[in-house]
Amino acid sequence: MSPIISISKLTKSYAGGFTALKGIDLDINRGEIFALLGPNGAGKTTLISIICGIANATSGKVSIDGHDNVASFRAARELIGLVPQELHTDAFETVWATVSFSRGLFGKPKNPAHIEKVLKDLSLWDKKDNKIVTLSGGMKRRVMIAKALSHEPQILFLDEPTAGVDVELRKGMWEVVRTLQSSGVTIILTTHYIEEAEEMADRIGVINKGEIILVEDKAGLMRKLGKKRLTLHLQSRIDAVPASLAAYHLELSDDGRGVTYNYDTKGERTGITSLLSDLRDAGIRISDLDTTQSSLEDIFVSLVRAP
Ligand SMILES: Nc1ncnc2c1ncn2[C@@H]1O[C@H](COP(=O)(O)OP(=O)(O)OP(=O)(O)O)[C@@H](O)[C@H]1O
Ligand SMILES: [Mg+2]
Repeated sequence: MSPIISISKLTKSYAGGFTALKGIDLDINRGEIFALLGPNGAGKTTLISIICGIANATSGKVSIDGHDNVASFRAARELIGLVPQELHTDAFETVWATVSFSRGLFGKPKNPAHIEKVLKDLSLWDKKDNKIVTLSGGMKRRVMIAKALSHEPQILFLDEPTAGVDVELRKGMWEVVRTLQSSGVTIILTTHYIEEAEEMADRIGVINKGEIILVEDKAGLMRKLGKKRLTLHLQSRIDAVPASLAAYHLELSDDGRGVTYNYDTKGERTGITSLLSDLRDAGIRISDLDTTQSSLEDIFVSLVRAP
């Protein structure tokens, strides 16, 4: 299947000379939820702004479902809904008016039934006659999503959709995004919340200092970079790990009743079998054991910290 967005060799240098994007190559698949993960200042908003035609690239190309986003700006832009990071709405308009107006900006004929559906999907229907200024922050954010969906885009960009949104509302937002995906919309979201990417995304891209340092489907990412820890609980405490077990680099817990072994899930041998038999040979008896897998958070932190 051809990608719905194709980005090639994209660079952006701001007027002051700062290079925010350093040659981005990225394809977004039709129908996927793609999470762009990166620290503050990594270039996420810059990248989205260029794809959506709000900012100009210094060099490189973006194609939206076959339309060059500069040469065929209107055709490309019509396919896109954007929920920007910074909220700006007309405070004294009603929810209904502001969402309907957004649709009009794209030259689409009025479609009250569609606006009604969008507001209902976002649990804003009972607020439709309220002025935006009277809404809570989370509701305002949902109004921004409603605006972005007003012209029935095929692609939705959500730049930090749940920043500053409480846990319950965040989960509600995830529901909305999933519903959108099942109706065929391709979704690209940026986030600082690793759990959000872990929960939502089909694929994850990590951007750091203007470069995409990794793109992987979520499961593959966990598999590829995942390390596991095996913790063995001992029947009686030991003062030190016997020298015969030095090769395993075991960590002894402070109370001397547990040892931890780190192993690589992608390795051919985990070393667990020989560890267990060497422990027995050393006279150490085990009362229980458990394993933990590194989270996406550990992976992300190690990637972004790498020099
Ligand atoms: N208009 C601008 N002029 C000059 N530099 C800019 C401009 N906009 C952004 N930058 C710089 O480009 C870099 C990338 O910014 P960007 O907003 O794309 O980051 P981000 O990944 O979205 O960060 P955040 O997570 O904080 O939203 C930053 O160093 C920023 O200071
Ligand atoms: Mg940003």
